[in-house]
Amino acid sequence: MNELLRISNLSICFDRGPRVVDSLSLAIRTGQTLALVGESGSGKSISALSVLRLLDERHVRYPTGEIHFQGEDMLKVSEKRLRQIRGRKISMIFQEPMTSLNPLHTVEKQIGETLALHKGLRNSAARKRCIELLELVGIRDPESRLSSYPHQLSGGQKQRVGIARALACRPTILLCDEATSALDPQTTQSVLRLLADINRELGLTIVLITHEMDVVRRVCDRVAVMDAGRVVEMGPVSEVFLHPQHPTTRDFVFESESIDSEEMQEDLQKAKGRIMRLTFKGDATYKPLLGSVARESGVDFSILSGRIDHIKDTPYGQLTLSLVGGDLDVAMNALKAADVHVEVLR
Ligand SMILES: Nc1ncnc2c1ncn2[C@@H]1O[C@H](COP(=O)(O)OP(=O)(O)OP(=O)(O)O)[C@@H](O)[C@H]1O
Ligand SMILES: [Mg+2]
Repeated sequence: MNELLRISNLSICFDRGPRVVDSLSLAIRTGQTLALVGESGSGKSISALSVLRLLDERHVRYPTGEIHFQGEDMLKVSEKRLRQIRGRKISMIFQEPMTSLNPLHTVEKQIGETLALHKGLRNSAARKRCIELLELVGIRDPESRLSSYPHQLSGGQKQRVGIARALACRPTILLCDEATSALDPQTTQSVLRLLADINRELGLTIVLITHEMDVVRRVCDRVAVMDAGRVVEMGPVSEVFLHPQHPTTRDFVFESESIDSEEMQEDLQKAKGRIMRLTFKGDATYKPLLGSVARESGVDFSILSGRIDHIKDTPYGQLTLSLVGGDLDVAMNALKAADVHVEVLR
């Protein structure tokens, strides 16, 4: 797999202000899905917008850094080259579909304009492609939707039209900035499934900015966590989510879980013996392991918390246990032999 986009040491300032992004580095390979997560204001959007140089150049400054896309530094290419790359090689979907779709244009015109500009397709050829794209993004009865205006579409349909337009030129990379946060949970799920399918079937490389950790788990291969303009942690989703290192990452990963909550901390304080967190994946998730380890080692296990999640299509489980009595080494070895990651908390 080739490295498609590499941001190196990028710093961003506005006017005479301080660096709001500071020495940001990240890379994405062809066909990967990278999630960019972080607190509001940590610099996710302006980093993505900088890839396409969409920030107002009268105010923005880049004191350091490069954005390499297929061998070219996006911060240095000419306006002409930039226009060729925007929409044709790199497409972007924004948070609010109403602001990216033109309210005065029909669906056919929104998508047709991109097809004419970048592919030279017009009239019946453009219409045919337009229908194909609408089908691809799951718009039912696409022919009858060609003449609809944005206000005649639901939120989910608008977002799908936005995605269809972004895909119109078969871009190499799709940048999605909170593409689902304006949608209800059900529509979010179907738009995400769509993005995951497109990634799989068309091999499209996707950068997904999101606040929804479920989205990261379901759709993404890698995740980069931003805090105050820097990347503080980056790696495969399974590693980062199961063993988060940085406090910001831990906040995100555990936000909706009891595992690190105050209540849980109290339980941990009260619990007797050794405290361990076990992490397991795939088939190991469904094996009745603890019973046999208890028999073998004589250790008493009490479960303090447990959960099962899916990261992409693989099930992962995590159990926090207190262990009393018996032979702890035997228990640990039996768990490790069963492909269980063991973290001793106390
Ligand atoms: N045009 C601008 N002029 C001055 N400062 C700006 C401008 N655009 C963004 N900023 C600042 O840059 C920082 C990063 O903004 P950015 O929009 O990238 O955050 P974000 O991580 O996308 O947050 P959110 O999750 O809320 O979308 C913020 O502190 C913001 O105030
Ligand atoms: Mg943003």
